Amino acid sequence: MKIFLDTADAGAVRSYNEMGLLDGVTTNPSLLYRERGDPRRVMREIVDAVEGDVSLEVVSAAHGDMIEEGRRLREYGPNVVVKCPMTAEGLRACRALSADGVPVNVTLVFSPNQALLAAKAGAKYVSPFVGRLDDAGHDGMGLVARILGLLANYDYATEVLVASVRHPIHVARAAGLGAQAATLPPAVLEKMLRHPLTDSGLESFMSDWERLKAENPGAGP
Ligand code: G3P
Repeated sequence: MKIFLDTADAGAVRSYNEMGLLDGVTTNPSLLYRERGDPRRVMREIVDAVEGDVSLEVVSAAHGDMIEEGRRLREYGPNVVVKCPMTAEGLRACRALSADGVPVNVTLVFSPNQALLAAKAGAKYVSPFVGRLDDAGHDGMGLVARILGLLANYDYATEVLVASVRHPIHVARAAGLGAQAATLPPAVLEKMLRHPLTDSGLESFMSDWERLKAENPGAGP
């Protein structure tokens, strides 16, 4: 499964990329707002920080403006995926950009039918928002299962990118379902790599090593 970092924090992107964990990054206007700086500088840094796909979101409402904006966003790098909202205008833009060879991530997907339409419009990725559905009392991962099942009946190249991930169980379930990608906030990725038994085990190995060194001055690995 591809792992993307859901952030506009270029430092976090560099840090997890050094571990070889990232297949790319997804951003949105809210994540950029959190960083506060000039969004052009932030987007530049993120695109330069990772080789894989970086989803940058359009902020226009009309498809013509989205297309122009998408083309401008692509100037940040060949790895830019243009993120368009799941609206009629967004699908028009998706169609035009995809036909032009520009990959598109259709975002804010909350139903199987929306995913089907995004796939028909040529989206490279469809992004179901599992956490927001769970928050509303629906079954976010159930939606992912339904979208995967539906797309598997046909030969769309569209990949399911699980978004609005809130905890490691979302990630494990996405992988269990065979979702092609998930985008994780840095805090979720951090939780995935930690385990209290790893910490306590390491602590006891280190303290035994210190004792051994005290009994054998000068010893080292
Ligand atoms: O990238 C968009 C998506 O992941 C947003 O997540 O936590 O704001 O619902 P959230």
